Amino acid sequence: MYVLGIETSCDETGVAIYHSKQGLVKHLLYSQVDMHADYGGVVPELASRDHIRKLVPLIKQALQESGLKSADINGIAYTAGPGLMGALLVGAATARSLAWAWQIPAVAVHHMEGHLLAPMLEENPPTFPFVALLISGGHTLLVRVDGIGRYQLLGESLDDAAGEAFDKTAKMLGLGYPGGPRLSALAEQGKPAFKFPRPMTDRPGLDFSFSGLKTFALNTYQTSEKTAQDQADIAAAFQLAVAETLSIKCKRALQQTGLNSLVVAGGVSANKQIRAALTEMAAKEQASIHFPRLEFCTDNGAMIAYAGCQRLLAGQQQDLTVFARPRWPISELI
Ligand code: KG4
Ligand code: ZN
Repeated sequence: MYVLGIETSCDETGVAIYHSKQGLVKHLLYSQVDMHADYGGVVPELASRDHIRKLVPLIKQALQESGLKSADINGIAYTAGPGLMGALLVGAATARSLAWAWQIPAVAVHHMEGHLLAPMLEENPPTFPFVALLISGGHTLLVRVDGIGRYQLLGESLDDAAGEAFDKTAKMLGLGYPGGPRLSALAEQGKPAFKFPRPMTDRPGLDFSFSGLKTFALNTYQTSEKTAQDQADIAAAFQLAVAETLSIKCKRALQQTGLNSLVVAGGVSANKQIRAALTEMAAKEQASIHFPRLEFCTDNGAMIAYAGCQRLLAGQQQDLTVFARPRWPISELI
């Protein structure tokens, strides 16, 4: 079965074709980063308009470069939420219309389920059950995963998501958008000379809070001499604090669930120091750890095609309505 995957929840237009037996056939990504950079962040209306411009040409290109025709496609998977409503509607309406025209099923995919299953596209995929740490621009979730659609929320951020904290801290330091990768590049030139807190690690539980780190970074910067080295040192101390906090909570989640497999996914999982800290912790805990390849950490169509394929194989599909849900807790998925 060939499944066309469509991702348009935020600032990347992602298209992919996944085959239930052969695996990933093709994936294409168009990033809107350059367009939004002029505004210092994602402008939702511009995002929607750009998805409209790019989505259909990308679908045509994916089919052509795979040597496939529309008649070869057996199902369409699209990100239905969570995300920006206008952006989601472009993907949902396009997917639903194509599915109707091609007389094939369409399935609505939860964006975070896509992230969660992204490591399944790798050579050594995790096996159920496992603990998943999902760290993106909009979410920080610790989930116990017993199978597709069998998700138990263990912990989440009570305020800013990890990626949001990276983005806001980068903005305060004048690094612009996209904040996460820029702050991370700057951190490599600094030493964690300033001591940052490890929020909510001094009490039991698996919830997170990252908004205080951003305020801490601002106060530290304002009381420093504001040199370029201070800036890099603050970036390094901030990044270390996030990496260690995530590591402490994941260790706790593994111990609490008694599981020995950890999946880490979402845009922030592209961060080298966070990958290293979690890998070291997992080794000490004798747990296996699974990340997607770097290009599948951030938003992409491949993870949506994969997740949709699993749901179509399980017999799920949506009716003819265009389904988009900007807020959609993963715990409501079945
Ligand atoms: O998963 P994603 O592409 O989109 C959402 O679902 O939100 O994640 C985007 C987030 C942004 O906050 C971005 O700054 C962050 O991931 N990010 C990073 C890195 N690459 C992307 N954060 C830290 N270090 C990185 N290397
Ligand atoms: Zn995402």
